[in-house]
Amino acid sequence: MKQLTSAQLREMFLKFMESKGCARIQSASVIPENDPTVLFTTAGMHPLVPYLMGAKHPAGTRLTDVQKCIRTGDIDDVGDPSHLTFFEMLGNFSFGDYFKHEAIAWSWEFLTEVVGLDPDRLYPSVYLEDDEAFDIWNKEIGIPADRIYRFGKEDNFWEHGAGPCGPCSEIYYDRGEKYGCGKPGCTVGCDCDRYMEIWNNVFTQFDNDGEGHYTELEQKNIDTGMGLERLASVVQDVDSIFDVDTLCALRNKVCELAHTEYKKDEEKDVSIRLITDHIRSATFMISDGIMPTNEGRGYVLRRLIRRAARHGRLLGIQGPFLVDL
Ligand code: SER
Repeated sequence: MKQLTSAQLREMFLKFMESKGCARIQSASVIPENDPTVLFTTAGMHPLVPYLMGAKHPAGTRLTDVQKCIRTGDIDDVGDPSHLTFFEMLGNFSFGDYFKHEAIAWSWEFLTEVVGLDPDRLYPSVYLEDDEAFDIWNKEIGIPADRIYRFGKEDNFWEHGAGPCGPCSEIYYDRGEKYGCGKPGCTVGCDCDRYMEIWNNVFTQFDNDGEGHYTELEQKNIDTGMGLERLASVVQDVDSIFDVDTLCALRNKVCELAHTEYKKDEEKDVSIRLITDHIRSATFMISDGIMPTNEGRGYVLRRLIRRAARHGRLLGIQGPFLVDL
């Protein structure tokens, strides 16, 4: 596989989508501007909700971007090798323009031909009832039927409370046996670290009124999302997202300040990873205008800073150190 940095992957993705007619737009703020249902921008689609619902976007009906995302729902799991509160989401969008055929074909082309991932390690999944997506994978892309997985609403239907939503088709990467749980039946969809979801193609065709009533949207849309850090971990063939180039540089600085080494002591590694993650979130939040306070977004920021500072003390770092990171 090609050796690629996160910066190269980011640019390759945007260029590829531009070659498909998508206009490159800037990341929106982590403070949601167009979606009152969320505290932070947690996915590339949040800033684009009005356009998924039919408003005209000034840049057109095909867009691509890299969105700064904050997800703090799993904050208590941060410190393990796979959770982040801040990540970059590569995305391409269609507002009543291209739909399933193109979105699926482009995701496959980008991963296998542009990035050069081994097609035999990639497995698509579709929503249970979505025969159309299944047939595209099977008949147009040529993936054998027994390599395409059908999952239910929990895995293959993207929705976030009220608003635009729809069935989705994900692409999993087989990271190899050494990451597996070894249990009989371990396969795509298993909770262990072997099969990692890297790309989500959402076919945004419904509006959820927030009480579970779905109405068909007049225009059919595409909302895709691929975590840059996850893609980089696959391409760079490293054990975890904390080993990819961008996070690794920050992680090493934490180790330097703590006069310690990574992967020597599991308890210290938890603190090193937590600080590495939290300082990224805190920096992007502050850059977008959030200040530590007692409620809402500011409270989340304050909590991240306090947790990072506490773990610095656990590592034996004296004095203010977050500013150096
Ligand atoms: N909204 C979808 C997700 O976050 C695809 O971008 O996974």
